[in-house]
Amino acid sequence: MMDFENRYCMHTATCGELRAADCGEEVTLAGWAWHTRDHGGLIFVDLRDRTGYTQIVVDPDCVTPDEFREAEHFGREDVLKVTGTVRRRDDEAVNPNMATGEIEVLARSLEVLNKSKTPPFSIEDGIETDETTRMKWRYLDLRRPEMYGNLRLRHEVAAAMRKALNERGFIEVETPILANSTPEGARDYIVPSRPNPGRFYALPQSPQQFKQMLMAAGVERYYQIARCFRDEDLRADRQPEFTQVDIEMSFVEGDDVMDMMEGVMQETLEAVGVHQEFPLQRMPYAEAMDRFGCDRPDTRFGMELVDLTDIVRGCGFGVFSKAVEAGGVVKAINAKGAGNWSRGDVEKLGDIAAENGAKGMAWIAFTDDGQEKSPIIKFFEPEVYERLKEAMDAQPGDLLLFAADKPAVANAVLSALRLAMADALDIPREGHALLWVVNFPMFKYDEDEKKYAAEHHPFTMVRAEDLDKIEDAPLECGSYSYDLIMDGFEVGGGTIRIHTSDLQRRVLRRLGLSDEQIDEKFGHLINALDLGAPPHGGIALGLDRLVMLLAGKDSIRDVIAFPKTSSAADPMTGAPSEVTARQLKEVSLRLL
Ligand code: AMO
Ligand code: AMP
Repeated sequence: MMDFENRYCMHTATCGELRAADCGEEVTLAGWAWHTRDHGGLIFVDLRDRTGYTQIVVDPDCVTPDEFREAEHFGREDVLKVTGTVRRRDDEAVNPNMATGEIEVLARSLEVLNKSKTPPFSIEDGIETDETTRMKWRYLDLRRPEMYGNLRLRHEVAAAMRKALNERGFIEVETPILANSTPEGARDYIVPSRPNPGRFYALPQSPQQFKQMLMAAGVERYYQIARCFRDEDLRADRQPEFTQVDIEMSFVEGDDVMDMMEGVMQETLEAVGVHQEFPLQRMPYAEAMDRFGCDRPDTRFGMELVDLTDIVRGCGFGVFSKAVEAGGVVKAINAKGAGNWSRGDVEKLGDIAAENGAKGMAWIAFTDDGQEKSPIIKFFEPEVYERLKEAMDAQPGDLLLFAADKPAVANAVLSALRLAMADALDIPREGHALLWVVNFPMFKYDEDEKKYAAEHHPFTMVRAEDLDKIEDAPLECGSYSYDLIMDGFEVGGGTIRIHTSDLQRRVLRRLGLSDEQIDEKFGHLINALDLGAPPHGGIALGLDRLVMLLAGKDSIRDVIAFPKTSSAADPMTGAPSEVTARQLKEVSLRLL
C-alpha cells in the first residue's frame, strides 16, 4: 500500500492504490459513489476519488441492516466513507482494465458523509456534454479523472519549471495586479480607483515593465508565475486572463536567454515524461515566413511553400505575371494525396484562401491515373509549365495550390492552406516539435491605425546594424527577439531590451508618441534607464498553451481550472455581474 499520509484524514487509503498485495488489510476509503449495482442480495459500489476507483461489496451479513438499506439507495455522487477488508476478486470477476481490478473491499461499515442530488451530467471521461454546461458546474467537470489529470499535469509542469529556475539562481518576485498600462498590443482591463476619482488602474497585460525595473534594481535573475490580463478576441488558445512563466535576466544576450530556457524546458519536459532533442533549431523569422508562410511553423510535417516567382515572371498566365510585375510573389504548396479530389472539393479550398485575403486560388491536380486537371495549365508556355512541375516535384496523386499576391498575403494564404490540407489528409503529427524563431522585424505598419507598431513590444532592442534606420526605414530594422514554437503554437516569446534612454525615446517616437506622452506614460522606465539599468533581456512562456499541448488538448480552457467562455464570462459565478448604484457612485462612475 502506498504510504498515504493518513494522520489528518478520514481515510487510510485512496481509491486508486489497492492491489492484490494488500489483500487481508483493513482499510477506510472515502470518495464518491459512481456506479452502484444490486446483484441479488449483494450491492456493488464503485467508489471514486481523484486517484481512481475501487469496487466495494456490501454484503447484508457483514453490515448492519440500516447500513444495508442505505446502500440500496446510494445515488450517484453520494459522498461515502467505507471501512472494510481488501480481498481478491473471484477469477472471473478480475478486471484487467482497471488498476484496482484484482481486488475489492468487503464493507464492514458504511457512512454517508453527504447525499448528492442527481448531477446534471455524468462524472466520467468521454462525455459529450456541451462546454457551457461543463463550465457552469465546473467543480463536477473537474471531478472527472481526465480534468484532474490536466490540473495535475499543469502543477507538475509549473513545479518542474520553478525547480529548474531556482537551481539557476532565479528568485520569484511578485509584481502588482493593480498596475498601469503596458502596451502588449491588446486592450487593457481597467479598474477605477476610489480615492482617485476619474483615475484607473490597468490590469497588467504582462509584468514587462516591472521585470525591467527589477533588473534596474539589481535582482539580475527574476521569475514569476504571473497572471496576465488582455481584453482581446478570444480563441481556443487565448483567454482574457492567462498565466505566463515570466523571466528576466541581466548581463545577457539573446543566445544566453535561449540557452537558459532550453535547459529549463529540457528538465521540465523530462519531469513529465516527454523526451525532446536539444539544442533546438534557431530559425530566422525570414526563413520561417519563406518556408512555412508563418512565424510559428508546425515543423512536424513538410508541404513547405515553394517560391515560383522567378519561374513565372513574364509567363503567359496573366494572374501570375501581373502579380510579379506589381512586386508580389507567386508561391505554391504541393498537397500530396489530394490529386484525385473533385473539382468542387478543391474549389471549396478557395474559401480558406479568400478568408486570408486572396483574390483567387489557382490549382493543378495530378490524378493517380496520369491526368492533369486545372483551369490554368492552358495559359503556360510548355517550357514554363515543365519548370514549374519540376520545382513543385509534381507526381501523380498531387494537388498544387497557388497564391499570387503581396508576400504577406501569399504567405498567410498558403500557411492556412498547408494546415487545412494536413488536417484534411490526416497527415500524422505525432510527438512534439520545438524550435526557436528568431530575429523578428522591429516594426510593422498598422494599416488600420496608419502608423508603425512594435512587432514584439516597444522595449525590444533594435539590431546594432539597423540602429540608423529607425527614423527613415523602420520596416528594415531587425530586433533581438526569439519566440519558442511548439507544434505550430507560440508557447513563448522574448527579447533583449533597450537599456539606454536615448534609444528608448527614439523607438517610442517612431511609434508616434510625443516627448510629452513618453514622459507621461513611460517616465518611470526612462528614468530607470538613466539611472544605471544594466543590459537585460528575458522571455515569457505561455503556461496554459504549453500544458494544453502536453495534455494533447485543443483548447487552453481544458487546462485552466476556472476558464471563461468566448464572451469572457464565467457561467459558474455569473461574472461579470452588475454592481449597485452605490458602488458606482463610490468610484465616481455613471453608466451610459
Ligand atoms: P507575449 O505577448 O508574446 O510576450 O506573451 C508571452 C506568451 O504568453 C502567451 N499568451 C497567451 N496565452 C493565453 N491567452 C492569451 N490571451 C495569451 N497572450 C499571450 C503566449 C505568448 O508566447 N512581456 C512579453 C514577454 C517578454 O518580452 O519577455 C510578453 O508578454 O504563449
Ligand atoms: P481568373 O483569370 O481571375 O479567372 O483566374 C484564373 C485562375 O487563377 C482561377 O483559378 C483563380 O482562382 C486563380 N487566381 C486568381 N487570382 C489569383 C491569385 N491572386 N493567386 C492565385 N490564384 C489566383
